[in-house]
Amino acid sequence: MPDVADLFRRLTAGVYVIGVAEGERRNAFTAAWLTQVSFDPLLLALSVNPGHASYPLLVGGGGFTVSVLSREQLHLARHFGTRSGREGDKLAGIAWRSGSTGAPILTEAAAFLECRVTRRFPAGDHEIIVARPVGGEILFPGAIPLAYADTGELDGSRELYPPSL
Ligand SMILES: Cc1cc2nc3c(=O)[nH]c(=O)nc-3n(C[C@H](O)[C@H](O)[C@H](O)COP(=O)(O)O)c2cc1C
Repeated sequence: MPDVADLFRRLTAGVYVIGVAEGERRNAFTAAWLTQVSFDPLLLALSVNPGHASYPLLVGGGGFTVSVLSREQLHLARHFGTRSGREGDKLAGIAWRSGSTGAPILTEAAAFLECRVTRRFPAGDHEIIVARPVGGEILFPGAIPLAYADTGELDGSRELYPPSL
């Protein structure tokens, strides 16, 4: 039986910074568990830990942005993914602008999407947020997206996998 963490890391995923806002309160966090789930209507699903500082802003604001990180932006995955907005303003010192819903978009990201939440489903220790894209842009057409596998042990998740299946 292979190491379960190594096995699951063969499931390919990108690395994104999810921006959220409720009124004037904003935050952002790194996520790999984001995927398209429907063509018609066009839908995405994001799996989010309800314990994150971003979660009440995502639910309260009813939307989120997806900033697609490029291969050179591992530092941004670390910045938004290894500390909580409860510890301080993660957007300070970062180039960002407000999207149409108020949620932050990283202006140096490869591309971005703006999404409106349509449904939410409990999923174990996470929640699946189904959302409809309402805008987006390719900011740097030549940028190669960062892959989750390239982040190594950054999310510290290895200990969360069971020893075997
Ligand atoms: C590479 C990477 C991928 C991550 N993917 C997710 C994810 O898909 N969903 C999630 O809820 N948290 C994910 N996280 C964890 C959050 O980014 C992290 O816990 C963050 O500090 C939460 O920030 P907040 O409390 O400010 O909202 C990931 C972290 C890293 C480093």
